[in-house]
Amino acid sequence: MRNQALILLCIVVFGVIGTCHGGSLRKKYYKKTCPNAEEIIKKATEKHVANDPTLPARFLRMHFHDCFVRGCDGSVLLNSTTNNSAEKDAIPNLTLAGFDVIDDIKAEVEKKCPNVVSCADVLALAARDAVSFKFQRPLWEVLTGRRDGRVSRVSEALANLPSPFSNFTTLVRNFANQGLNVHDLVVLSGGHTIGVGHCNAFSNRLYNFTGRGDQDPSLNPTYAAFLKTQCRNLTDNTTFVPMDPGSGFTFDNNYYVTVKQNKGLFQSDAALLTNKGSRNIVNELVDPKKFLTEFAQSMKRMGAIGVLTGNDGEIRKKCFVVN
Ligand code: HEM
Ligand SMILES: *[C@@H]1O[C@H](CO)[C@@H](O)[C@H](O)[C@H]1NC(C)=O
Ligand SMILES: *[C@@H]1O[C@H](CO)[C@@H](O)[C@H](O)[C@H]1NC(C)=O
Ligand SMILES: *[C@@H]1O[C@H](CO)[C@@H](O)[C@H](O)[C@H]1NC(C)=O
Ligand SMILES: *[C@@H]1O[C@H](CO)[C@@H](O)[C@H](O)[C@H]1NC(C)=O
Ligand SMILES: *[C@@H]1O[C@H](CO)[C@@H](O)[C@H](O)[C@H]1NC(C)=O
Ligand SMILES: *[C@@H]1O[C@H](CO)[C@@H](O)[C@H](O)[C@H]1NC(C)=O
Ligand SMILES: *[C@@H]1O[C@H](CO)[C@@H](O)[C@H](O)[C@H]1NC(C)=O
Repeated sequence: MRNQALILLCIVVFGVIGTCHGGSLRKKYYKKTCPNAEEIIKKATEKHVANDPTLPARFLRMHFHDCFVRGCDGSVLLNSTTNNSAEKDAIPNLTLAGFDVIDDIKAEVEKKCPNVVSCADVLALAARDAVSFKFQRPLWEVLTGRRDGRVSRVSEALANLPSPFSNFTTLVRNFANQGLNVHDLVVLSGGHTIGVGHCNAFSNRLYNFTGRGDQDPSLNPTYAAFLKTQCRNLTDNTTFVPMDPGSGFTFDNNYYVTVKQNKGLFQSDAALLTNKGSRNIVNELVDPKKFLTEFAQSMKRMGAIGVLTGNDGEIRKKCFVVN
């Protein structure tokens, strides 16, 4: 109720919803300063994605992690230094790979327009363009004008990123901390329609759910049996499986079909069925058109979390190090 009142106020005061959702981000922010920026990023992204079908999932997750820690400020891209352990070291070498590709895409932009386009915008655009590659049309709009942060801390990543072992209450709180609601939580979890999960993020559900060598009763038993053939023990941290089996490279509504069959890979996926309101949203998003429309809107909200604009932050020359 209060949220709705706030949105209404926002619309009345600012006249445009965009102002409320995106802060001072705008469409085609670089139109004058680097007219081809978005085209250069798209071309470079597509070149890489054509050779590596795992990149869309990697970039999408990277953008999400960027936004949930200090806002979408490119801080996820920074390397650790002798004095500082950066965000990217929070989840020891899991799949936040692809950093080198972002650095490469940024280098392409720098050739044409040095010191103009932020790494945070490069990442937001590359994530969109990578996921959209197969569709030959942009799946969501990306407003631009983000600037880059100078701080990246492993502790903040650990504190702010949702865990695959979280229950519904914890996930809702985690998203609320970012200004996102239950609807955004369910919609954005649909990002798990592409990509993979490593065994150690879910094998407790297979082998030791409550500490008595048991299995998670909310996990489809047939699927659990299959997962056990992939993840042979609790300590396996190298094997991975698609999160949306059979459709792991296709950005579609099938994640919700999977979740409804109790085949959501993580406890955090299964958690979406444990609340009535959330379950209703899962049911709605099984509709493919609805999913794509809603995903586009929630991505816009996620892409605006805590952005630095105006004179805040900097335009990094290289994404892995502050200027
Ligand atoms: C709701 C809370 C979320 C949790 C607990 C969560 C957790 C995880 C975990 C544990 C993995 C597997 C990493 C690995 O083992 O390699 C993963 C992968 C992934 N997540 Fe999430 N995630 C969440 C939300 C999101 C959101 C909001 C997005 C984007 C919109 C997203 C996109 C992805 C993608 C694309 C992958 C696959 C990465 C790859 O294949 O390289 N996730 N997530
Ligand atoms: C930055 O860190 C990545 C690993 O996250 C590494 O591959 C790369 O070599 C580092 N770059 C520099 C310039 O240190
Ligand atoms: C790291 O910290 C030490 C001691 O505080 C300082 O002398 C040094 O310049 C710092 N190095 C970097 C790369 O910031
Ligand atoms: C994980 O990181 C450690 C050191 O940080 C490295 O030695 C190891 O090879 C990495 N493992 C994988 C699977 O990338
Ligand atoms: C959810 O998880 C949190 C943190 O682990 C815990 O404190 C809480 O009791 C759990 N809620 C439910 C309903 O299980
Ligand atoms: C299962 O969990 C319990 C309680 O945490 C622990 O004592 C036990 O060692 C675990 N079993 C295995 C096989 O890891
Ligand atoms: C667990 O499984 C992995 C991968 O199959 C294997 O390399 C490792 O030796 C196993 N560890 C134990 C304790 O059985
Ligand atoms: C995987 O587990 C082994 C043994 O526990 C550990 O040495 C290694 O660092 C872990 N690797 C990753 C990627 O977490």
